[in-house]
Amino acid sequence: MSAAISTIPSRKAASIATPAAMYPALRAALLAWYRVHKRDLPWRATRDPYRIWVSEIMLQQTRVAAVLEHYRRFLDAFPTIEALAAASEPAVLALWSGLGYYRRARMLHRAAKVVVEQSKGVMPRTAEGLRALPGVGAYTAAAVASIAFGEAVAVVDGNVERVLARVAGWSAAEPGFATQIRTFADAIVDPEHSGDFNQAIMELGATVCLPKAPLCLGCPWQPWCRTRGEHAVPPKPRQQRQHSARIVWLHGTGAKQKVQLVQRAADASLMAGMWELPLHEPGDAETPEFTVRHAITVTNHIVDVYSRRSALPQHDGSAWVPVNELPQRALTGLTRKILRRIGLLD
Ligand code: ADE
Repeated sequence: MSAAISTIPSRKAASIATPAAMYPALRAALLAWYRVHKRDLPWRATRDPYRIWVSEIMLQQTRVAAVLEHYRRFLDAFPTIEALAAASEPAVLALWSGLGYYRRARMLHRAAKVVVEQSKGVMPRTAEGLRALPGVGAYTAAAVASIAFGEAVAVVDGNVERVLARVAGWSAAEPGFATQIRTFADAIVDPEHSGDFNQAIMELGATVCLPKAPLCLGCPWQPWCRTRGEHAVPPKPRQQRQHSARIVWLHGTGAKQKVQLVQRAADASLMAGMWELPLHEPGDAETPEFTVRHAITVTNHIVDVYSRRSALPQHDGSAWVPVNELPQRALTGLTRKILRRIGLLD
């Protein structure tokens, strides 16, 4: 065990930051752990800032497992920033379909156009320069600048915040918590290996320093940690439940089959401009074919699905889409889920 442990003050004095003299040992322990335990992820096998940027945007609010397949398909379709800039918005949204938070995709697309038009496709090399791009906040700018270009800037996301708060013994309820964390993160980031350090601390939060039951015995920072897992976690926002019904109107059979879709308003706050199945108001005697559950942000949608054959009526804002064109449409995640369930989509 480290000699440093005897210098750790009592919990009452916990608002004093972890002493700077300990940082070299903390950095070395974290990087050694990361080299052995890091997950083998495709964006870790590249220094291409465009590919790293795409991964960081996809990883916001989205689990690694959900990102992997989308990341591969997205980069197959748009292998360079020029390819993304030249793509149409529906094509970009179609490949984002299922990841949610579609504003991220629109902003990424817009930023790619800015980089291609204004800098011949060369991305800014600093966090400050990256932040000027549409959709790039402090987190993404620091992640790309450190991982792709080695800039010594700290990434602070929810995982990093939890890890540092536990190490320092701070509670999220204390005034000035966010500033304290930011200051600590900026001071402790390894100036020589900032990209690996940032990824390592995020990885530690995602795999070891877990919110509910941290695996402290496997933690490289355990000798220096003031809380060893005890940490006040703010309560989660309560999940809302919402019941609704959708209808699958089908026309024709086989290769000529078509399904009716409606487009969401261009100014909708969620999934603007994307295509979905029409809402339905079932009569008393109607029973659904099946029910799907679908979580969007903090709402758990429970959706009854009905289906009918149609003689092709047209409604405002609706389109009859041939089944073989469905994969190229920017469909909402719920629509994709329902169409898969009835075998109209792979
Ligand atoms: N979460 C978001 N980006 C990450 C990265 N590059 N490594 C680990 N976790 C992450």
